[in-house]
Parts: sequence; structure tokens; C-alpha cells
Amino acid sequence: MTGIIISSDHRSSQSATPTHPVNSTGQATPPWWETAVLYQIYPLAFADSNGDGTGDLAGITQHLDYLNSDANPDCLGVDAIWLSPVNRSPMQDNGYDVSDYYDIDPVFGTMGDFAALIEAAHDRQLKVLMDLVINHTSSQHDWFIESASNRENPKHDWYLWRDAGPNGALPNNWVSYFGGPAWTWCEARQQYYYHAFNQNQPDLNWRNPAVRDAIHAVVRFWLDRGVDGFRLDASSVYAKDAQFRNNPLKLHARHQNAYDNQYHLYDKDLPENHQIIRELRQIFDEYGDRVLIGETFIDSGVHDSALFYGVQQDELHLPFTFEFTFSPWFPGYLQREIQKKELLTPQGAWPTYFLDNHDIPRHLSRWAGAADPIALARAAAMLLLTLRGTPVLYYGQELGMVDHDRIPADRLRDAVFAIDPDQPPPVTRDGVRTPMQWTAGLHAGFSDNPAADLWLPVNENYVGVNVATELADRDSVLHFYRSLLQIRKHQSKALRMGSWRTLIHYPDTHLAYVREWEDETVLVLINFADRVQDCALDVPLESDDWTVLLGSHVAAREILATPTVLQPLEVLLLQRFGGT
Ligand code: NOJ
Repeated sequence: MTGIIISSDHRSSQSATPTHPVNSTGQATPPWWETAVLYQIYPLAFADSNGDGTGDLAGITQHLDYLNSDANPDCLGVDAIWLSPVNRSPMQDNGYDVSDYYDIDPVFGTMGDFAALIEAAHDRQLKVLMDLVINHTSSQHDWFIESASNRENPKHDWYLWRDAGPNGALPNNWVSYFGGPAWTWCEARQQYYYHAFNQNQPDLNWRNPAVRDAIHAVVRFWLDRGVDGFRLDASSVYAKDAQFRNNPLKLHARHQNAYDNQYHLYDKDLPENHQIIRELRQIFDEYGDRVLIGETFIDSGVHDSALFYGVQQDELHLPFTFEFTFSPWFPGYLQREIQKKELLTPQGAWPTYFLDNHDIPRHLSRWAGAADPIALARAAAMLLLTLRGTPVLYYGQELGMVDHDRIPADRLRDAVFAIDPDQPPPVTRDGVRTPMQWTAGLHAGFSDNPAADLWLPVNENYVGVNVATELADRDSVLHFYRSLLQIRKHQSKALRMGSWRTLIHYPDTHLAYVREWEDETVLVLINFADRVQDCALDVPLESDDWTVLLGSHVAAREILATPTVLQPLEVLLLQRFGGT
């Protein structure tokens, strides 16, 4: 045994990371979104209620009892759902290309279905968040059609239009995140328009007050309909340089045209972006109790997330950054990311963490190669759900769903990436968007129409990895998630609100950290090693008398002394009260 000492009062002085103020209000009742667990639904893939092979709103409503319900003791127990876009859209980017902000796409149902979903969710104490895609619209949005029609129309400057350079040259060197130039020629106007993403996703001109007003009206429209918050899509690229200057190129860039080979000085993270978000936040503040989340765009690091709260904390409530999605499954690396976030999250602001979303390989596929995928799933869940911050789950994560990596070419849906012979072929995101696996039966229970042409094929592992099968197995990944969520909600304020500090300075085999709130301490131990491991701690613990909340190798409610060893891939959640 190493480092387990019952000792005096040097808790904060010896911690590797300082204890952080607890929540944004410093009160025992923080805003709901600080203690909530969010659950992202990709609506096309969740549940098909009408047998057309595509997920829809009524399908989500039918499965709300699975997500949270007093009437269902087997429910998962999340607190809010975030729906990827459901507005009317030609679906060239599966809804991230809106053609009417005031309507629901028929593939998902009707405005009535949306109202029914909100009501049914609220009946089950589930909040509902929408995705708000306002960096760009679809090229089929009326605003763009009008703007593109001629240079004199009333919406002529709602988008970013530029003349060609000499000999028809592009206006500048900006490139699309999806590959290729960010400029597309419009015959009618004899001008180029800018698109940070696909050419079917023209960027709005946020410098135009009429555009701001129009988007603000959209925000109010949905807040008035009871939406509890938004996840802002691509929220760090709204503002662009007023002079459209060239981005500097990175030295020695091999593919000059690739997005990552430019410094995005003039098309991303501009100071003006903060004012845009601040104005959106002001609307939220009028409504109260709603949450404003932002995708601080793919390669913004944790250092940027501090800025996205706003200097006066008047911007995003929760900025999504991508620390775990680009981390290897290595305790030292993961802890470094957590420590950075702990240090950089401004006082009074609240962090958020996620492992997966609809754009990136699922963590069980990213971190594949683990000796025991179930143990990896448990360890990753333990990490995500015990940090100081709002956790976000991606549908199916709670089952241990992995990427479908054998979707036939003629079934692929994700068609937004430009094919550039000078660049490596783009990786499809379809593998992480396959149907939710409900049962071991027809179409994994996603659709009950035998003839349905499914939106994407079901992952072949559905026979073992599905809700029904896992509910019947006390050792399943789903049960582990359910237990963690129940514990968070009902048994531990420290997990919901407490401070975080590590007990190991440079972990390379296991993580050990505590969450503390008033007289409660929760100790989290995660062994990354596939062997018995000394549970060495650098920071002495004051207590040696724990109740097991959850463990992979010991039963809940057992009383334990601080473990001196951890079993291969063991995870352990321990709690004690008083006597610090
Ligand atoms: C980020 C979204 O997460 C992604 O799915 C989408 O393709 C782009 N923004 C463009 O809206």
C-alpha cells in the first residue's frame, strides 16, 4: 500500500490542482443544467414511429420513458435531451442545413409532434434542447434564394458576397472545413458567396443588423414554444473579417488548400463573435432558466473555452470543447486535460464534458484495442460521469454502441465533404449515426416495418448490444450507466456539485481523484492497466473508511478501507461523510 495516510488538514495545499469554487452561484441550488446529465439524440437514427425507415419526433416521444420516467424503474435517468436539427431542411447535411427555421422537417413530423414531444418530455422532468444552426442556412432557404437572385434585392447582403478577383480568381484563400475553396460562384449575381462548410450551406452575414434581428426572432419563437435551451452549431465562426483578408498559411503545409494548413486568423474566433453570442445570451437571460450551449468549433482548445463564457460571463453557459475526443485513452493525458479545464474555467462558470457526438468516432471505436471493451466502457463512463461539469451522452453510448465500419458504399449518407485528389479521402460520419439498438429483433427495434428501407443499416452487433438485452443483464454497460446516473441524482451532492482534485500528480496506470461537497467526499479510482495495480497516491487521504457506491469488482454498500491495489481495469466509486 502506498500513500494512504489518515492525516490532518492539508487537503488543498497538497492537491495537484487547486480546489475550485463549486458552482456558478456558489449556492446549494445551482441552475438545473449544472447538475443535469444531457443526452444527445440524432433524430434520424433514434426511433422510426411511422415505418418509413427514418427516425422521427413521435419515435422519440414513444421512447421518453426509457430516458426518464417516474413510472419506469428501468429508465436511464437523464435530465435533458438535445436534438440534432429537426427544422425543415433538404438534408444535404442531415439538418445542419436549414431551409425554414419556423417549421419541422416532414421527415421528422409536424409542429404538433414537436409540441407533443415537449409536453411529454416536461411531464417526465426532461428538458428539451434544440440545435440552432445559424452560422449558415441551406442554399434552399428563401433568404438565400432571394439574396442570390440579383444584386439589388432587399436581402442582397444577408450572405457574404464578393466579386471575383482578376481573371475570375477567388476572393481570398479561405477554405471550407469540408474541403475545397470556401467560395462558390453564383451566375445570377456574377459573384462568389462564402461557405465555411459545404457549398449548400452559405454563411449568413452577421454584420447585417437585419440578419441578427431575423435570427433573434427565430430564437424567441422556439423559446416561446417551451424549448429549454439551444446548442449553437459552429458558434465560433459567425464573424468574419470585414476586409476578407487572406489567412496566413502554416509553414511547410503540404496541402496548401487544406483547412488545417491555415491559421484561421480571419474566418474564425474573431473578437466580434463574442458580441454576437452576447446578444443571443441577452435573449436567454430574459427567459431565465434556459441553457445556452455552444459548439466552440472543432479545433478550439480548452484555452478558448474560458473565453467563450464571456469576460463578464455573459456569453455561453456551457462551451463544448473537444478535449476528450482528441485524447488517447491514457490516464496522464486525460488528467492533463481535466486539470487544464479545472484551472481555466473561470470562477463562477461551469465546465461540461462529452466523449462522443455525431461527428466523431465513438469512444469505444476510437479507443479500440482495449483488452476488454466492456471494462473500457465502464471506465469511460466512470470518468465522464464523475467529473466536475455537466456530462453529455450521445445516444447508444449507454449501451456500448460502436461505429459501424462496414456500411456499403451505396448506403452512405454523409455527402458533404469535397473530394480532393490532393488530400486524403474524407472519413464518413455515418458510422456513428446508425439506428439506435433497442432490441435483438427486427431492425434492432428501430422500426417495426419489415420492408422499411432504413436510414442507415443497423450495426451488426445489435443482437448483443441493445436496450432490452442489456436491461436483463445486471452486468451490462447499460446497467452501469443507469447506476451511475442514479447515484449522481439521488446519493451524492459531491458528484453533482462538489470540487474536483486529483490524488496523483502524473498518472500513468490509474486515475484517483476526489469530489468534495460540505462533509461528503467521493473517491474515484480507475485502473487503466490490464493487470493488478498498486493503488499508489501522491496526495494523502484523510479517511480510510468508505462505503462503496459502485464498483466493477465489489458490491455496492460494502464498507472498504482505501484500496491498496486495484484489480485489472477495476473502477470504484467510494463515499464517506464527515470527519475531514
Ligand atoms: C457542426 C455539426 O456538428 C456538423 O454535424 C455539421 O456538419 C457542421 N457543424 C455544419 O453545420
